[in-house]
Amino acid sequence: MKISLTANDPTTIKCDVLAVDVFEGTVKPSGALGALDKKLEGIISKLIASKEISGKSGTSSLIHTYGKLLCDHVLVLGMGKREEFNVDEARKAMSAAVGAAKKLKAKKLAAVIPGSGIREIKTSDACKALVEGAFIGDYEFNIYKTEDNESGQLDELIISDAKKSKDLDRICEETSIICNLVNKARDMINEPSNKMTPSLFSRTAKSISEEAGINCQVLGREEIQKLKMGAFLSVAKGSCEEPKLVVLKYMKGKNSRDVLGLIGKGVTFDSGGISLKPSKNMHEMKTDMAGAAAVLCSVVAAARLKVKKNVIAVIPLTENMPSGNASKPGDIVESMSGKTIEIITTDAEGRMILADAVTYAKKLGATKLLDVATLTGACVVALGDIASGILGTDQRFVEEVISAGNVSGEKLWQLPIYKEYREYLKSAVADMKNASDLGKAGTSSGATFIKEFTGDTPWVHIDVAGTADLDRDVPPYSKGATGAGTFTIVNYLLNS
Ligand code: BES
Ligand code: ZN
Ligand code: ZN
Repeated sequence: MKISLTANDPTTIKCDVLAVDVFEGTVKPSGALGALDKKLEGIISKLIASKEISGKSGTSSLIHTYGKLLCDHVLVLGMGKREEFNVDEARKAMSAAVGAAKKLKAKKLAAVIPGSGIREIKTSDACKALVEGAFIGDYEFNIYKTEDNESGQLDELIISDAKKSKDLDRICEETSIICNLVNKARDMINEPSNKMTPSLFSRTAKSISEEAGINCQVLGREEIQKLKMGAFLSVAKGSCEEPKLVVLKYMKGKNSRDVLGLIGKGVTFDSGGISLKPSKNMHEMKTDMAGAAAVLCSVVAAARLKVKKNVIAVIPLTENMPSGNASKPGDIVESMSGKTIEIITTDAEGRMILADAVTYAKKLGATKLLDVATLTGACVVALGDIASGILGTDQRFVEEVISAGNVSGEKLWQLPIYKEYREYLKSAVADMKNASDLGKAGTSSGATFIKEFTGDTPWVHIDVAGTADLDRDVPPYSKGATGAGTFTIVNYLLNS
């Protein structure tokens, strides 16, 4: 989707659909809405008077212009109450506008930036949210449909703001780069596991990262064995697919000693292994590499945005399968760190591969660690598909990551890592168990396991089990993969 910014009067924009905002309680349209109303000979005023246009959040009204304007349709988007307005509202409304425009087979959509002059809301933030809503809403995954696979995607988005500035131009450009990579992550996650194997993931990683000027190394089984990644290999053992370890190096923070180590859980299919999952909904476990996709795509976005930071990403990729070669409950394995782990359940595989990836990221020089993983079903129970769980050992770091997510509408809710949870992982025969058999505090005890490998390095863990893949539309996202974590990491790199 091409994106441009115009300072022209909205009434002079030529497009298929022109989206404009209205707040609840508006009696007389003013500003852009007023100008459009005039050209439409008062239709908008009449619809407001008859309450057909209510301004309520989530509502929209489509008006045919029949030649009274250069655009074919005006779409009036309800933004809710003025005093409750925030940019999340703009993002959702824009995503809905894209949906409505696509139903009309529109190719060119224009939108007026909403919320100008409301409280402390900056035009630049509203503009960013608008662009995010458009790109997120425009996403579709239909490559495997042999019929009905015609892309209804938009060709062009025009943002209208009277005070067109260099700053807004840069925001449009930057946000479109980020959104394209969020959508790339969604594509990778939506791919089925027979296509998106560790091999395909690593090939994709190699091509998109090198194209963006990132150094990319892909290690195979033998090299992973040489690194003594016993925890990672214990998961990979049961699968016919070769595990891969992708290592990305983007070192553009010339004046800084800080190196952000990013780690993404890349289980391309999680059957549970010998501790087999129930078959109902098992197909959803093709998305168990969502953390890996978020990490990969955020580093590529950072490189495309020429962020001046040092980043090392370590992405362990494997399937978790049952077989004669698979790890069994009760097995004891030695992790790269030297710590031994008793496998209580082979379904707690994410933390096993993250343990070695964290150890390796530290070895490569990471001074801070951030991992993204679809780690626990307990996180889905606690927060649903609305917020990701966030846990960590450095409160300031946790709060910076939460703020970075919120900028783009990714909600993160902190859960605790009390030292007492370590008790849950005590093993009679090894240094620790990979899971508690108490069935308590699943997300916190999962994080507690990973913490054992982070040592003194400040660390934040994001559990995207509930947010990475949606079984329903959660505006601005549609059913399927969201790329959760990608916006958060990119914003963190941009703002920290
Ligand atoms: N991949 C799952 C977690 C998950 C569950 C992600 C639901 C998305 C939706 C993970 O590997 C897993 O199986 N975790 C277990 C851990 C438990 C056995 C300690 C879980 O949460 O049940
Ligand atoms: Zn599992
Ligand atoms: Zn898993």
